[in-house]
Amino acid sequence: MLGSLTHEEFLRRHWQQRPLLVRGALPGFQAPLSADDLAGLACEADVESRLVSGRLGGGWQLEHGPFEEETLARLPEREWTLLVQDVDKWVPEVAALLALFRFIPDWRIDDIMVSFAAPGGSVGPHTDQYDVVLLQAQGRRRWQLSEHFDRALLPDVDLKILERFSPEQEFVVEPGDLLYLPPNVAHYGLALDAAMTLSIGFRAPNQRELIGACAEQLIGSARDELRFRDPARPVAAHPSRIEEADLRQLRELVKSGLALGDDELDRFLGRTLTRPKLHFEIAGEPLESDPARVAGGGADDTRQVERRLARGERLVRRLGARLLLVPRTTELWLFADGHEFQLGLGHLEWLEPLTEGAAIDATCSQHCPDALPWLATLLAHGTIEWQTDPR
Ligand code: SIN
Ligand code: CO
Repeated sequence: MLGSLTHEEFLRRHWQQRPLLVRGALPGFQAPLSADDLAGLACEADVESRLVSGRLGGGWQLEHGPFEEETLARLPEREWTLLVQDVDKWVPEVAALLALFRFIPDWRIDDIMVSFAAPGGSVGPHTDQYDVVLLQAQGRRRWQLSEHFDRALLPDVDLKILERFSPEQEFVVEPGDLLYLPPNVAHYGLALDAAMTLSIGFRAPNQRELIGACAEQLIGSARDELRFRDPARPVAAHPSRIEEADLRQLRELVKSGLALGDDELDRFLGRTLTRPKLHFEIAGEPLESDPARVAGGGADDTRQVERRLARGERLVRRLGARLLLVPRTTELWLFADGHEFQLGLGHLEWLEPLTEGAAIDATCSQHCPDALPWLATLLAHGTIEWQTDPR
């Protein structure tokens, strides 16, 4: 997929450093969904979509979805782009492309955004803060890149379009071509035909996000009953001052609430990195027993999973489920959609294939009967689901 480059060479020479264009990365590649499918997604309430119209020098407009079908049906012939985020969470054929990028760990992947542009359509020259792989799926697109540029943005648009842009490189991509861009390279893509582009977006949390998430967790675990106390305090000699002994106790109150060991921090990171995006509601299968109370699922739920597997049904990871495995010396930490579980290391045997997209069938329950209660729990959390039609 990376032309003559191995994964190692790509990571060493390009990843986070410099752009790479690969012609014919996926020979014969065809769009995994149609423009109509994409428009359909952009009309759904729980799908994030945008419509960008305009052209360089002529002003830009941004509208947010969900859109009315008629709005999308009445778009002009030229100069608009419809962009839909997280298409990998809805379309299995799009999600399947992620397998090509597993030389980078799953947790680094954010989503696959799909754009469809009318001829002349563009979102303007801009930079992204994340690494992105742009796969051309339909029509031709002209890309212009600049690595040394003025960061000033156009005023009055929430599109973050660069005010001035002079290209240093230019090329026209066709279906099957791939363009990798590291963060902060200015790029300007212009659809020459009706063009579809898939953007595989990677994520790299910044300190503000992590500290924000950590603060939430610290507030949750802070103890109300730990409160400043001062029995037998001496008479205040200088009531307008704060004494060292008072400061010492208050400092300790703060510090003891902030103190997190590496294990606690790693578990916080596992939960945070697997947390679903805020707009995704995950519906699990209700359990007979409460999964929060019964670690590893209750006996009835376990039996039901066993029965359905024995009948030939199969369990698969839900599209877009976020799973992360952290093997420790004596146990396995599993993070699934923001939840945390501790299992024996032997569970890697079925969990690793599950993260790779393999279906769980009755042979799994024969090999690892211990897996059954965990399957019931993951089912209840919506991380896995019964396969409807074999993929
Ligand atoms: C697009 O697909 O139109 C824009 C993708 C990008 O420039 O990041
Ligand atoms: Co971009």
